[in-house]
Amino acid sequence: MDVDTCAVVALPKFTDARGSLSFVEAGVHVPFAIERVYYLYDLSKDAGRGAHAHKDLHQLMIPLAGSFDIVLDDGAQKRRIHLASPSEGLYICPMIWRDLENFEPNSVCLVLASRKYDEADYFRDYDAFLKARNPA
Ligand code: TYD
Repeated sequence: MDVDTCAVVALPKFTDARGSLSFVEAGVHVPFAIERVYYLYDLSKDAGRGAHAHKDLHQLMIPLAGSFDIVLDDGAQKRRIHLASPSEGLYICPMIWRDLENFEPNSVCLVLASRKYDEADYFRDYDAFLKARNPA
């Protein structure tokens, strides 16, 4: 599971005179059952979010409004992804360090997650993450 396992997923989009609608189905658009939903908002332009990796968690991040960058890092390779459309999401597999940055004003990031919140699932220390990724 490396940065190339992560992928931008095109979501269905229905547009008519009233506007647009997109949706996500577990097992269809994401390879996991959705156990938790959270969202980032009131984001400060100059602040970063993320700065952690998860041991077991699978996630899909969707820019419901605005745009931002997500830098993925598997300990060997980095990949920067710009998310700017509510009809696409970024699937992030376990054991990927991620930094979210360059938030456009009023951006909202919706996150679908495979497990409930569990602080024990986090690497918040980059060196500990690197050691787990690249054991001596
Ligand atoms: P944090 O992990 O710092 O957010 P980010 O996704 O930007 O890295 O989480 C901020 C706080 O919110 C932290 O105290 C943990 C708490 N939190 C929950 O209680 N439940 C959740 O589902 C999430 C994602 C965070």
